Amino acid sequence: MTEYIGAVDQGTTSTRAMVFDHDGGVVARHQIEHRQILPRAGWVEHDPAEIWRHTQEAMREAFQGYQIRALGVTNQRETTVVWDRRTGQTFGNAIVWQDTRTDRIVDALDHDRRGEIVSHRSGLLPATYFSGAKLQWILDNVDGARDAAERGDALFGTMDTWVLWNLTGGRVHATDVTNASRTMLMDLDTLDWDDELLGFFGVPRAMLPRIRPSSDPEGYGTTGDGVPITAVLGDQQAATVGQVCFAPGEAKNTYGTGNFLLLNTGTEPVRSKHGLLTTVAYQLADEPPVYALEGSIAVTGAAIQWLRDQLRIIDTAAQSEELAASVPDSGGVAFVPAFSGLFAPYWRADARGAVVGLSRFNTGAHLARAALEAICYQSRDVVEAMEQDSGVALGVLKVDGGVTANDLCMQLQADILGVPVSRPEVAETTALGAAYAAGLAAGYWGDTDELRGNWHESRRWQPGWTAAQRRDGYHQWRKAVERTLDWIEI
Ligand code: G3P
Repeated sequence: MTEYIGAVDQGTTSTRAMVFDHDGGVVARHQIEHRQILPRAGWVEHDPAEIWRHTQEAMREAFQGYQIRALGVTNQRETTVVWDRRTGQTFGNAIVWQDTRTDRIVDALDHDRRGEIVSHRSGLLPATYFSGAKLQWILDNVDGARDAAERGDALFGTMDTWVLWNLTGGRVHATDVTNASRTMLMDLDTLDWDDELLGFFGVPRAMLPRIRPSSDPEGYGTTGDGVPITAVLGDQQAATVGQVCFAPGEAKNTYGTGNFLLLNTGTEPVRSKHGLLTTVAYQLADEPPVYALEGSIAVTGAAIQWLRDQLRIIDTAAQSEELAASVPDSGGVAFVPAFSGLFAPYWRADARGAVVGLSRFNTGAHLARAALEAICYQSRDVVEAMEQDSGVALGVLKVDGGVTANDLCMQLQADILGVPVSRPEVAETTALGAAYAAGLAAGYWGDTDELRGNWHESRRWQPGWTAAQRRDGYHQWRKAVERTLDWIEI
């Protein structure tokens, strides 16, 4: 019987299970959305029990009838959950990466030397985005959590760890280097939890998962059905693998709820001077880790969802393209969707979203177009920072993720950056990357060179704007960003 590789992608808005063949082609998939729980301004939660139910259902539907040789797990990163190892009962909901409730904890770090230590050792700038402060918040605020942690009964995990623990019937409590590199708790050089960082957030070491390589034949156990789990990695790192960015200098930009641009910098971590993060890109078993510079943008596709769910000016995300294309430009409107503050390269928790430049002439179509432009301008901010850090000008931008189906948005991206934008045949690069990492560990694929042969371009957008259009548009964008800063008191 033909063998395949399975992948679970536990993302911010949905959980999907996919089956890949030896050419990296998708042969089956099933996807289920989960609830976004928004109890207060700035808070975003997920129900971990709902996510585990959806994971099981998605796997059942997608994997049925296929011989799965190995499974890879990939996930929304940073989202934090704590549960009781004896019962599997969670201490409240998971706190999602977009949630800003920890702004005071983070602000305090920033005001003394601890902030510098966090940056230097973890590669991350102190921000509400990462897990450490979310974990501290749960320990400090959810009844019984700290006592249970001190007794050794409470376990911490990002969503990979939660899914893995459940998939293995509570036998394996582990994470991988990429997910651990998003917590503010791991030392980027030793790839181990760091006692001083744990002390900053009051986190008992006993509640932390073991850290393993991303692609690992031994460390992750098997599912209840006996399928070996041989890879775990954060979704943006998985997409980097799925886009076969295995050489230093290769980069990809994923357009999901947010945008995440990762540049492979090789086996030594490179420290950013321009607001990017240093992170682990992946680690194959028995090999040194490969690092990346990352530009993380909190809200891109989520701005389209906001037009759909909160403003209700479109019924489906896809309609944003038609609506935006009904006008030739944004009619002077700029939209900065700083819903969770601004991430890279600004890192301003005090920013909030703004729509500026309105006149009575403007319609929902202009706002939809401004939302698409915002996706592209935010990516330009990150590309500029990356070019300054690396000294290398981008020749072409490799893209993937849901929003890349939006033709107008991709054309705008090429126009705004002034470089071609290239999308591969398999746009599901996140799940594909998890499958690649799992298949390498299981011997299904021989090496990364073999995977390179699976990458084929499906579409390329060439830049059309003049240099003056590009310059003036970007100038307006930066002015609009200025308007969003200092909006809330922390
Ligand atoms: O860091 C957050 C990121 O991993 C979320 O990705 O695709 O689930 O929005 P996505």
